[in-house]
Amino acid sequence: MPEHASQPFYMPSGNEIAVFEQCHANQLAVMLKGPTGCGKTRFVEHMAWRLGRPLVTVSCHDDLTASDLVGRFLIHHDHMAWQDGPLASAARQGAICYLDEVIEARQDTVVVLHSLTDHRRTLSLEKTGELIHADPGFQLVVSYNPGYQRMLKDMKPSTRQRFVALDFEFPPTDREIAIVLREGGTDTATAHALVTLAHKLRGLHDRGLVEVPSTRLLVATAKLIAGGIPLRQACYVGLVAPLSDDVSLAGAMRDLVDLTFV
Ligand SMILES: Nc1ncnc2c1ncn2[C@@H]1O[C@H](COP(=O)(O)OP(=O)(O)OP(=O)(O)O)[C@@H](O)[C@H]1O
Ligand SMILES: [Mg+2]
Repeated sequence: MPEHASQPFYMPSGNEIAVFEQCHANQLAVMLKGPTGCGKTRFVEHMAWRLGRPLVTVSCHDDLTASDLVGRFLIHHDHMAWQDGPLASAARQGAICYLDEVIEARQDTVVVLHSLTDHRRTLSLEKTGELIHADPGFQLVVSYNPGYQRMLKDMKPSTRQRFVALDFEFPPTDREIAIVLREGGTDTATAHALVTLAHKLRGLHDRGLVEVPSTRLLVATAKLIAGGIPLRQACYVGLVAPLSDDVSLAGAMRDLVDLTFV
């Protein structure tokens, strides 16, 4: 069963849906690159729904081991029983396996993906001696957030070159307004103003704002406004405060809010 019974709303920025469909049809693994909150997870949820595939999601971190992905023996009363990990389970059931923030995983963990992402499409369970042949519907998708400490170059070329890579940016203006409207539930004028404000805040990147407001933050702020929180206050707590502790940068951001919502 897909995680979503109903269609997860996804507003495309370009041709990414067609590219992903071709990757799926050709059993190619996909890497999604892009800043936080720009729609990567939502895209995968939408594609899994569109393709009628179950979705298995794993959040990667540096303690993640190959066994966490592949599986392990667990004690059951008086005997040991093998328990498939998410990767083995996804390969068997023909799911889309989504490894979020794959760059956080250690290289010795990531190499277990290799045999699944080339012509072999197999996963070897060394502890049981089983060789899983992935179901034809199985597809590996990884995401990665450039600009964090760890970069793509930290990944082995032999891993990187197993993926088709899609670059995600914040959506074009009209699309982002449509997302804020649909997800945040504000009126059109407010959605428009929030996206205009976001563009101004994103411009502060050149003035030292390391993290710029994502579509996710815009949606959260819109929800506060739709729920009755006054415009400026919603922007202070929803857009400004999460982004920086720096007093002068926060001041500059609040000024932009005040200029937008006089
Ligand atoms: N293209 C889009 N279509 C629909 N909703 C979107 C889109 N982009 C962003 N959103 C909204 O922004 C929120 C955050 O998006 P999402 O969780 O997909 O980001 P992400 O890129 O996976 O971020 P992270 O790297 O932090 O995991 C979504 O819950 C949704 O409300
Ligand atoms: Mg995500």
